[in-house]
Amino acid sequence: MKKLLGAIALMVGAVVAPATVAAAEAGIPLERAPKSVSDLAALQAGARVFVNQCLNCHSASAVRYSDLRQIGLTDEQIQNNLVFSGETVNDLMKIAMHPADAARWLGVAPPDLSLMARAKSVNAGPSGSDYIYTFLRSFYRDAGKLTGWDNLVFPSVGMPHVMWELQGPRELTKTEVHPVETAAGEATGDWERVVTKYDADGYSVVTRETVARPVQGAYANYDFTPLDVRKSQAYDNQVANLTAFLTWMSEPNQAERRRLGVWVLLYLGLFLVIAWRLNAVYWKDVK
Ligand code: HEC
Repeated sequence: MKKLLGAIALMVGAVVAPATVAAAEAGIPLERAPKSVSDLAALQAGARVFVNQCLNCHSASAVRYSDLRQIGLTDEQIQNNLVFSGETVNDLMKIAMHPADAARWLGVAPPDLSLMARAKSVNAGPSGSDYIYTFLRSFYRDAGKLTGWDNLVFPSVGMPHVMWELQGPRELTKTEVHPVETAAGEATGDWERVVTKYDADGYSVVTRETVARPVQGAYANYDFTPLDVRKSQAYDNQVANLTAFLTWMSEPNQAERRRLGVWVLLYLGLFLVIAWRLNAVYWKDVK
């Protein structure tokens, strides 16, 4: 029995461990994506945002419009609200733009988003959803950039903040505390705090002051101030829906897989008890 429990503990450990080991790719801590893939209302709202805001540049060519039946939409709803003119529900979610043209216009071709949430869950920490959620909420105006935008999660990203009108204007205060270096890159022994304030138009003001070495060493802080709080909250909600949709898209039957998983585990649990009792019965006469 002890051996059996040991084996079970090992199995559980093997399943849980990878989630805690993966390191974040992004420089800033990721926020938790708030909505789940079993929230059908969120998925439907997210699908609408995706088709209207993202599908112009990004394709999702592993998904057919008809797959949206799985999130509770009828063919009629899909055809009338989500499918571009000239296409049918049986088409793949492709875009007209040629990748080479996209690369010419935008500097880099927008990646296909079908599997993005899963790809990011491998490279950017345990949850690709958290990455996408934080990424879409980390754009700030920077007049010095080609697109007029930059992103805290993906510095110098080639994608502009396409939903900026939905989010409303924001200001950003970046605070960085680090050792002072000479032009040649040598440490001077002094520490400084650099505060960069970006206004809503992307113009920045930098203030520097010498400070004592902080106990925790170098650090950075980022603080957004929405100028239209209501809009900003509505945007967060839209992004939460969109993130849930992108997560669903990366594995359309994951809700079903989890639901089934519970039954499988229950069955295995029941089987464990039977096997254990049976074992006791078989060995009773041998001993
Ligand atoms: C104007 C075209 C355009 C639109 C519209 C657009 N994107 Fe992008 N997106 C890009 C480009 C270009 C890149 C590649 C950026 C790079 O690698 O620098 C990108 C990259 C991404 C990435 C990958 C970021 C990473 O870390 O690799 C995600 C996720 C993403 N877009 C999501 C979205 C979502 C969600 C929408 C809809 C709200 C959207 N995009 C709308 C052009 C666009």
